[in-house]
Amino acid sequence: MDKAEHYRDLKAEIDSVVAGETSVTARYATAACILAQAMAPRFFWTGFYVVDPLKEAELVVGPYQGTLGCLRIPFGKGVCGHVAATGEPIIVADVHAFPGHIACDSASNSEIVVPVFDAEGKLAAVLDVDSTSLDAFDEVDQAGLVAICNSLLIA
Ligand code: SME
Repeated sequence: MDKAEHYRDLKAEIDSVVAGETSVTARYATAACILAQAMAPRFFWTGFYVVDPLKEAELVVGPYQGTLGCLRIPFGKGVCGHVAATGEPIIVADVHAFPGHIACDSASNSEIVVPVFDAEGKLAAVLDVDSTSLDAFDEVDQAGLVAICNSLLIA
């Protein structure tokens, strides 16, 4: 099975598990678990930073799989904060070369971050996937994760 096909299968699995589920936390937890299990060991850390409704422009850690993550990331800071500020996905081949990168775990060397929007099109969270390898993510990963994130809160 090629990678694009694998992502299509995983999206179908996630959509089917969360169908009818009204808890956003349950939806994030399901996606983080299915992705982390299916893509191990390439996905070293897989999880969500959600927009904190009580704070101006700040992400707080949500459901994830992996080593201990940082709790809070201001918009504009690090890779996740950059995606929260721009609303655009990003692939970072070498996190050590990314200005302001937040090293929650020094084992991470590359990452991909994708925004998650709610049914009204408002930013709800970002999906952050880290790898211990340099340059671990490509356009196929981005397309697959964007498709999963696009239906995660509305399927
Ligand atoms: N690498 C992220 C921080 C989150 S952790 O890696 C889990 C960043 O710079 O946004």
